[in-house]
Amino acid sequence: MDDVTRSVARQYEAWAYPPPVTDLAAKIAEGYFELGNPADYAALLWPRGRPKPAGRAPAILSAGCGTLQAAYLAFTNRDCEVTGVDLSEASLAHERFLQERHGLANLRLFRGDLREVASLGRRFEGIVCSGVLHHLADPDEGLRALASVLARGGAMTLMLYGATARTGVYMLQDVLRRLKVGQDAAGVAFARRLVEQLPEHHFARWYLRGAAELAHDTAFVDTFLHPQDRAYTVPQVFDFLERAGLAFGGWVDNAHYFADAALARFAPDVRAAVAALPAREQWAAVEMLTLNLGMHVFVARDARDEAAVGGPAGTAITPADFDTPGWPDLVPHRAPGLQRAGTKGNDVLYRRGAQTIELGPGQAALLDGADGSRTAGQLLALPALAQVPPGTRDARVREFLAQMWRLGHVHFGRGGAGALA
Ligand SMILES: C[S@@+](CC[C@H](N)C(=O)[O-])C[C@H]1O[C@@H](n2cnc3c(N)ncnc32)[C@H](O)[C@@H]1O
Repeated sequence: MDDVTRSVARQYEAWAYPPPVTDLAAKIAEGYFELGNPADYAALLWPRGRPKPAGRAPAILSAGCGTLQAAYLAFTNRDCEVTGVDLSEASLAHERFLQERHGLANLRLFRGDLREVASLGRRFEGIVCSGVLHHLADPDEGLRALASVLARGGAMTLMLYGATARTGVYMLQDVLRRLKVGQDAAGVAFARRLVEQLPEHHFARWYLRGAAELAHDTAFVDTFLHPQDRAYTVPQVFDFLERAGLAFGGWVDNAHYFADAALARFAPDVRAAVAALPAREQWAAVEMLTLNLGMHVFVARDARDEAAVGGPAGTAITPADFDTPGWPDLVPHRAPGLQRAGTKGNDVLYRRGAQTIELGPGQAALLDGADGSRTAGQLLALPALAQVPPGTRDARVREFLAQMWRLGHVHFGRGGAGALA
């Protein structure tokens, strides 16, 4: 084991992450869900349909599972075989506790380095790796190892730290490292006092305001006293994937990247100018204007499965898909967490996270109809749209669905000829 891995393993042995949860059912009942969980995000992960391996259940890997992710995935994806790998025995012990508590016969746990995951001799239709690769001395090596066990047609959900919002975190890490502050109770107490004394304008202050979990010492250590961590900008995410032979498969929540929602506070002409950029340019610009992305959560696929990366013929849904004659074949699915939140006159309110939208009856019927059971083309025939003149109906529905996609409220699968046979 190299020095970096040894110090990372030591941290997660002493400070198993996340702070342990003792009952998954209760936690989920409180509203807990993990971004990119295959159970909730199948349309985003596999727009052409979920691959069906012959002779075995679909396999999901949680790489660097921590204390609960592998058990959570096994609990919520009962029809899948879930494998959890982690360096930390303390984390795996808690995964085992959850396995026993919830009777998770579909879960296997291994202690080890994800860079050696190929030694398990398995391939996975889904891989979840969140908050892990940025702690490796060479994250590229870790990503290549994951890519090597991704089944053809499979998809990964990755979470990497975002560089802009964490600027102040790295400033403090730098100071605490120079001061040789340890990860023990005395070190944590010292670092907490230091953080309290930061001037109002310190970049870390803004980060601290938005990170409620820092109340837990485990999260505080993970943030400010980590021996190895780095972060990525939007263009660096794409470069990272490309070096590993992977294709970008979409953000788990488009709302943070497209100008529509992310630049709501900007004047319409500024927002429109950014929105007119090609998608990757737009996302890079939005990141630099908002500075609020502390993490990037996204989907990656084998580049060979992405016939035309970034184009409408590929697997990933892109803005261009809504401009092609095939758009009515797309199959809309409401995103996890999107809920009706009441009515206002004839309008219906929907909420997802911090976003609220107000829709008239026709648009509300479209969103309610976006349940994965029919294509966009079939939605055009909804009785609620009868009032919309046929001459403009197609264009209005198409633009509405494209906007719901940019706001992250709807994901799309590919129906018609684009679906998996
Ligand atoms: C911040 S925690 C994230 C846990 C979990 N993925 C989640 O999102 O809640 C990072 C985890 O990755 C594990 N880890 C770090 N480097 C690893 C490696 N090279 N191989 C396997 N696990 C690793 C750590 O032990 C720790 O449990």
